Amino acid sequence: MLTKKVEEICNRQIEREGFSSNLYLAMASWAETKGMAGIAAWLYAQSDEERGHMLKFIKYVNERGGSAVVPEFKKPPVKYKGIPELFAEVLKHEKFITASISEVLEAAIAEKDHATANWIQWFVKEQVEEEVSVQLILDKISLAGEHGIYFLDRDIMFLRGK
Ligand code: FEO
Repeated sequence: MLTKKVEEICNRQIEREGFSSNLYLAMASWAETKGMAGIAAWLYAQSDEERGHMLKFIKYVNERGGSAVVPEFKKPPVKYKGIPELFAEVLKHEKFITASISEVLEAAIAEKDHATANWIQWFVKEQVEEEVSVQLILDKISLAGEHGIYFLDRDIMFLRGK
């Protein structure tokens, strides 16, 4: 059975993972309207992954005797300045999510909830992978410069590790 504190912080994470999904969906839609089908495909896939993360939390909370809450989500931005800025925003957001996952782990430890502390390790590892993959894209952007965006758009799906 989850303690109230762990249930609450897991519910907070449900909102954050769901917002991440919508944020990447909004970015994908914007990229698609700018003719960048490859980058849009990467972002659509990322949005699906984030929805999967939200579902993992929902199921976990319910399995452990808590009640998962599906919240309202803040509207993500509709427009983005450009591709380098968009991926910088993705990295910033992923760092925020990494910190948020650490807080779930810290709450589980404080509550002596070893099961949650163990379960959340999947997300700890996932966040390392997500930050690495977005940093790789940012590195490619700075290597190639603005004119390299065409090639990034063509090849980005090959950078997905899974
Ligand atoms: Fe589910 Fe990318 O954090």
